[in-house]
Amino acid sequence: MAERELKVRPIRSGTVIDHIQAGQALNVLKILGISGTTDATVSVIMNVGSRKLGKKDIVKVEDRELREDEVNKIALIAPGATINIVRDYAVVEKYAVDLPDVIVGVVRCQNPSCISNTSEPIKPKMLVKGKNPVVLRCFYCDQPLTERIAEYLL
Ligand code: CTP
Ligand code: ZN
Repeated sequence: MAERELKVRPIRSGTVIDHIQAGQALNVLKILGISGTTDATVSVIMNVGSRKLGKKDIVKVEDRELREDEVNKIALIAPGATINIVRDYAVVEKYAVDLPDVIVGVVRCQNPSCISNTSEPIKPKMLVKGKNPVVLRCFYCDQPLTERIAEYLL
């Protein structure tokens, strides 16, 4: 028990992203736009034991309640993730991430001659055609993206 407490110390307030597929925690931070220069207190816990998943990653962002539209994008690479909003040490809200129908500015198109990959100031826009498994299709050129999605993160 003492070991468990050390690994996953409770936070007073903020957002806990739980049940991230092991190995995807840093990609979750990338999608959320949390980089090395963030002011937020962020804990990244990798490869912690989980009854459901065997191993999982956890990300805790203190003193920030992430909005649903911000966190839902992580379903691209962490489809089973659970979002927990914590206030005064208690989980006050819990929901599963749910991929939106359109994703703008998160993954780039695989097609090198796509208008979203040229110097045009056009953000890549992906239509979500399937959620499990994830199937994306470029809004501009119809190019599908289904595998190794993490490699196309911007
Ligand atoms: N958590 C936290 N700080 C708190 C409360 C919870 O960091 N003050 C974290 C827990 O460590 C856990 C997640 O938020 O990773 C969800 O907490 P809780 O709902 O208490 O855990 P479980 O019941 O195990 O969640 P689930 O049923 O979603 O697996
Ligand atoms: Zn395209």
